[in-house]
Amino acid sequence: MNEKIIEKQSENHPPAIRLVRKNDGAALHDLIAACPPLDLNSRYAYLLLCHHHAQTSVVAEQDGIIVGAVTAYLPPDQPDTLFVWQVAVAPASRGQRLGKRLLDHLLQAVRPRHLTRWIETTISPDNAPSHQLFTSFALQHDAGCVITTLFAAGDFGESGHEEERLYKIGPLDRKD
Ligand SMILES: CC(C)(COP(=O)(O)OP(=O)(O)OC[C@H]1O[C@@H](n2cnc3c(N)ncnc32)[C@H](O)[C@@H]1OP(=O)(O)O)[C@@H](O)C(=O)NCCC(=O)NCCS
Repeated sequence: MNEKIIEKQSENHPPAIRLVRKNDGAALHDLIAACPPLDLNSRYAYLLLCHHHAQTSVVAEQDGIIVGAVTAYLPPDQPDTLFVWQVAVAPASRGQRLGKRLLDHLLQAVRPRHLTRWIETTISPDNAPSHQLFTSFALQHDAGCVITTLFAAGDFGESGHEEERLYKIGPLDRKD
C-alpha cells in the first residue's frame, strides 16, 4: 500500500479507549497540566488513582499518546454512584465527541460490576464546555440532571477558587 495512504489512515483513526493502567499516572498528570482550568494534582496522586481506581477510570490513546481521560471512583457510601473527578481532552482532540465517548465507555466498563444508577460530577460556574458535555450526556441517556452547590468558594479558603456545583445525573436505565 502507498505510504501516504498508510500515513493518512494513522492520522484518521479515532483514539482507542481503555481502562487506565498503573503506569499511566505520569502521562495523565501531563494531560491534566495541558487542560486548564482543571486543578493539577501531584504525580503521586495520579499514580495512586491509576492504581486504586483503575476499574473506574479510562484514557483515550492515539499513536501511543494519551489524548483524553476520565478519572472517577465509587464514593464508599454511594455504591450506585460513579463520581467523575476530572475529564480532560487534549486541545488538538477536542470537538470530535471524544469527551462523550470517554464517558459512555466508562459507564459501559463499570456496569458489569456495579449497579450504576447515578453519575455525579462537579463543575465551576464558568466552565461552559463541561456543563454542555454533562447536560448533553444526561439528555442522550434520557436522564435528569439536578444541579446544586457542593463546595462554596469559601470552602477553598483564600485560594480564589470558584464554587463547585454538583451535577447529579440519573437515574440511568440498565440498558443505557
Ligand atoms: C470539556 C472537554 C472535556 C470537552 O471535550 P470534547 O471532546 O471537546 O467534547 P465533545 O466533543 O464530546 O462535546 C460534548 C458536548 O459539549 C459541547 N462542547 C464541547 N466543547 C465546547 C465548548 N468549548 N463550548 C460549548 N460547548 C462545547 C459539544 O458541542 C457537545 O455538545 P452536544 O452533544 O450538545 O453537541 C474539553 O473541552 C476539555 O478537556 N476542557 C478542559 C478541561 C475541563 O474543563 N474539563 C471538564 C471539567 S471536569
